[in-house]
Amino acid sequence: MLTKRKRGWEMPESRATPEDAFRRRRELIKGLAAGPILAASGAALLAGAGEAAAAKADADPSAGLYPAGRNERFKLDRPLTDEKMVTTYNNFYEFGSSKNIWRAARDLPIRPWQVRLTGMVEKEQTVDIDTLLKRMPLEERLYRHRCVEAWSMAVPWSGFPMKALVEFARPLASAKYVRMETFMNPAVAGRQRQPWFPWPYVEGLTIEEATNELAFIGTGLYGKPMPKANGAPIRLVTPWKYGFKSVKSLVLFEFTDKKPVSFWETLQGSEYGFWANVNPNVAHPRWSQASERVLGAGDTVPTLIYNGYGEFVAHLYPSDPKERTYFY
Ligand code: MTE
Repeated sequence: MLTKRKRGWEMPESRATPEDAFRRRRELIKGLAAGPILAASGAALLAGAGEAAAAKADADPSAGLYPAGRNERFKLDRPLTDEKMVTTYNNFYEFGSSKNIWRAARDLPIRPWQVRLTGMVEKEQTVDIDTLLKRMPLEERLYRHRCVEAWSMAVPWSGFPMKALVEFARPLASAKYVRMETFMNPAVAGRQRQPWFPWPYVEGLTIEEATNELAFIGTGLYGKPMPKANGAPIRLVTPWKYGFKSVKSLVLFEFTDKKPVSFWETLQGSEYGFWANVNPNVAHPRWSQASERVLGAGDTVPTLIYNGYGEFVAHLYPSDPKERTYFY
């Protein structure tokens, strides 16, 4: 086996958490902006300390909503991944197929941003993102994040339970699925000009999955608004599923009785199916899923069934957990 465990892996989460650090940094930035003299020295300090990215995030109109209080129910078994890694090693095919798309993603306009709640609902609605953010119960959750490419991170997401959004949308009893769509903006997302991809990026969940307590709508990271490369202003986070289910920069939630066909399923259904639950026992057709590279830690560790979240979600999949259809 190419797996090993390091002692650092067992480090208590409280020792590893940089939350205090980023809270202090936000206070520093706010304080520096308080007066002209301080602001000038603050600008120099920011540049010197390489904090330009943090200052830019603060320009987001929702910045005042963060940091949100942490929901302690969701514990990690590993240190948080370094913020720089999480925000500069991304999959966002609209902007390119390399991991280094964060620069290109900075061009995405995220205000105004409307979210449509449509299909089998009591009344269709279009809601402005800042109105929605004020109505939803924001909190922070520390989740493991496992990509189908066999790497993983540990991420402090901010956002709200997807269940709150489903309740806000008021679906009819006949709705069985939620189908979600990413924006279409080929002028800034260059890949969307390539017609052989089935844009927009689409994903779907069953209503039971969407209202499970783990299903989360991410709106921020590390106590700040969501960076564009990570799916600003609003994305899905389903930590028991491979990362490709966690669709970014959402503009549509459609309630339907038809099983959605996702972007990746359309492209390569034999490798990327609807369920996509993390399972070390079912290999991807081209590589093993038994272990994962923990980015930033230099470790390779065993992958856990449902990414370690079985206590929350295993009951959603009552038949044989080895049944292939639950995984691809
Ligand atoms: N959403 C959109 N719209 N486009 C994408 O290319 N990539 C998916 C998912 N959501 C993707 C997307 C994949 S493959 C993964 S692993 C995660 O986003 C990566 O999220 P991260 O960049 O925040 O780690």
